[in-house]
Amino acid sequence: MDFKNEVVELIASQVDLPKEKINALIERPKNEKMGDYAFPAFTLAKVLRKNPAQIATDIAANISSDDFSSIKSVGPYVNFAIDHEKLISATLADVLTKQNHYGDQKLGEGNVPIDMSSPNIAKPMSMGHLRSTVIGNSIAKTMQKVGYTPIKINYLGDYGTQFGKLIAAYKHWGNEEDVKKDPIMNLFHYYVRFHKEAETNPELDNEGREWFKKLEDGDPEAVKLWKWFREVSLEDFKRIYKELGVTFDSYNGEAFFNDKMQPVIDELKDKGLLHESRGAQVVDMGKDENPAIIVKSDGTSIYLTRDLAAAEWRMKEYNFVKMLYVVGNEQAQHFVELKTVLKKMGYDWSDEIHHIPFGLITQGGKKLSTRKGNVVFLDQVLKDAVSLAKKQIQEKNPDLADQDQVAHDVGVGAVVFHDLKNDRLDNFDFDLEEVVRFEGDTGPYVQYTNARAQSVLRKAAKMGVKPAQDGFNLDDEWAFAVAKDLADFPRIIARASDKFEPSIIAKYSLNLAKKFNKYYANVRILDQDDQIASRLALVEATSIVLTEALRLLGVNAPEEM
Ligand code: ARG
Repeated sequence: MDFKNEVVELIASQVDLPKEKINALIERPKNEKMGDYAFPAFTLAKVLRKNPAQIATDIAANISSDDFSSIKSVGPYVNFAIDHEKLISATLADVLTKQNHYGDQKLGEGNVPIDMSSPNIAKPMSMGHLRSTVIGNSIAKTMQKVGYTPIKINYLGDYGTQFGKLIAAYKHWGNEEDVKKDPIMNLFHYYVRFHKEAETNPELDNEGREWFKKLEDGDPEAVKLWKWFREVSLEDFKRIYKELGVTFDSYNGEAFFNDKMQPVIDELKDKGLLHESRGAQVVDMGKDENPAIIVKSDGTSIYLTRDLAAAEWRMKEYNFVKMLYVVGNEQAQHFVELKTVLKKMGYDWSDEIHHIPFGLITQGGKKLSTRKGNVVFLDQVLKDAVSLAKKQIQEKNPDLADQDQVAHDVGVGAVVFHDLKNDRLDNFDFDLEEVVRFEGDTGPYVQYTNARAQSVLRKAAKMGVKPAQDGFNLDDEWAFAVAKDLADFPRIIARASDKFEPSIIAKYSLNLAKKFNKYYANVRILDQDDQIASRLALVEATSIVLTEALRLLGVNAPEEM
């Protein structure tokens, strides 16, 4: 039952305004005692040439509905108070019938490639790549819930002049055993050493260039090493993805587009978009903007050209209805250029390309940087989070079975949730102790609330009482507060998918958890009276929605913790 929609219908029967307009005008009264919805009548005052309070009184006098306990005018507003029992009953029935499909809706359809994670091989995955991974993963799940078919693409940074340097470095100082033991760490060390020694030994840079040339020309040794570096790096990354529970539909990275760039350059030429500027081949971006470089003065093609090729290829391959790039805000200009050039090429589908930017993770207020060696190794962060979680579980629930699994779900879930609860674009500081707390605005708090709901249901089952499936008879304010949040879930999903903003779901889950904990503190759920089965239904519905909200964030919900 959609109460807001009913308000719209009732108002529409009385005033001459389009329903969308009415829908947009409806407010939530600041004070809950004033009701649940309010329609402001002053917008009509001019047209009707009556004072707003009179209009509100007239509207209120002419409408009635069983779903509202009161409809009355207060000053220039028509206020609607939802009948508590009706809302609670309708919502519980809805959630319990649809179970984890509650909130599913059809807002669109078709393929939506999501370019996400995309770390660079032979380098540690950064916090930025972690953000891209978890934000992209959550957006994918949310898009799926509203009807789209997400395609998660890991556009690996697996090609470029740096691999010439890496091969040269490996030839000097590398050793197969070490790379096998700890690929990324060791490859990264060779690379860092190369840069350091190249400062005093320019010959190294030449060697790097030669090896890159060999790689481009298909020299067997160069190609073999490069492939090997890619493979072992990817295995390392996949360990992290496994911890996070994230999978990909494609690993077509930069190298995949090596042979697909020249056709794009030719196409740009044919369409008359390319011209020379200071030795480079560029496309104009408009009068006050710098031109976009397509081919550098030394003849090498660049990041943008590859992304143009990738975008065209993906359109052919997936015939997408939207395409998302979950990449840090510092690359905003790049994606403006990508969209603009595609548009100039005559591709109107470029309007359906969205850069989904996000802010930085800092530590102690400082920016993290791979180049300055100021890196956080993600495996380590996840391991630390899991052991912190385990410590807390051992204190709170030492007899818990399956401690390792639960510690994993809580520790990793905490890191993921912490990342997603902030508006994407906000920068935030990373403090592991805070992330893994069971109280406050954390993932473990939501997980713990869900486990508490599950534990109530287990106790009830032992007593032989089951949650009601119908005939709900709750009308107290605590239950109403929970049910109102539950009723909001479908709208929350719609907003989160529309704005590509997982934090909307994370914040929602925190609010729902808080409301439920108030319910738990104020109501004796397991008292054997004629409402017990309905109260259990509320507990079950809350657990269903919390679990589903966490799932959409990519966080597991253990039943016990
Ligand atoms: N590998 C890049 C980096 O680490 C991110 C790639 C983003 N995706 C894209 N299609 N440009 O900065």
